[in-house]
Amino acid sequence: MYTTLKEVTKKAEELNFTVGAFNTHNLEMLPDMLRAAKEMGSPIIIQTSVDTARYIGFSVLVNVMKAICDNEMVDGVLHLDHARNFDDIKEAIDAGYTSVMYDGSHLPFKENILKTRAVVEYAHARGVSVEGELGTIGGTEEGIHVAEDDKVYTRPEDAVEFVKATEVDALAIAIGTNHGQFKSKTEVNIPLLKEIDSVVDVPLVIHGGTGVKEEDYPELINNGIRKFNVGTELLVNWTKMAKETFGATEVNKSLRHNVIPANEAVEKIIKHKISLFMNVESPTNLGN
Ligand code: 13P
Repeated sequence: MYTTLKEVTKKAEELNFTVGAFNTHNLEMLPDMLRAAKEMGSPIIIQTSVDTARYIGFSVLVNVMKAICDNEMVDGVLHLDHARNFDDIKEAIDAGYTSVMYDGSHLPFKENILKTRAVVEYAHARGVSVEGELGTIGGTEEGIHVAEDDKVYTRPEDAVEFVKATEVDALAIAIGTNHGQFKSKTEVNIPLLKEIDSVVDVPLVIHGGTGVKEEDYPELINNGIRKFNVGTELLVNWTKMAKETFGATEVNKSLRHNVIPANEAVEKIIKHKISLFMNVESPTNLGN
């Protein structure tokens, strides 16, 4: 079923697992991503940046998601990742996205509350879920560099006020993770996560999942992380495989020969991640 962030994270809370939120960069990899979730018996969140949504088309993505979720009988959410502009969010919601993130983390606290609240009002009136963000997550977010020194961890007391005032359905928190970190691994601040989880009752979200050590997943899941974002690991491995196949294939061969192995590389990673997110047996052992 084509569903919302609120619904899938509610299920994750009841059964103590986390829902994988995987960034897609093209339409090619999308069916395999959803099939991976189906085979693992898990819901899945597919997220796009605003730029990817424009490249593919907001309604094209919505229609493809709906069709695959119905045909494959998998619970899928289409989520807009890190939007900072109300018009982009409105476009996604009007096209049929079931979840959006308003990222006001770069704004002064009160302004972040006010702007997030406006998004919540528009989205909730249309049955769409909203993720907000507090604190800064390191790395590169859609080309905007966040320097290590500028990183601000989420303060539990701010989280309480933010959630109460905005009524967001999920909260992205800064506990040491970085976007785009695929060569090294990060030290997540578990004590801070525990503190935040003990004072707010919304599902919590990890960004920069590629850089998180797999051995830390259980602690994250046991302390309220209900949406776990992974983007770079998929992008890197799709591209690596595509480079290999495009390099080795005659130019007049069907594109399938180049693209299918790249899609399958993504599918394999998603299955592995979901097995850890749901604490079920992994079909593949990719290590970390
Ligand atoms: P990574 O690309 O580092 O896995 O992060 C994904 C993410 O958090 C998207 O918002």
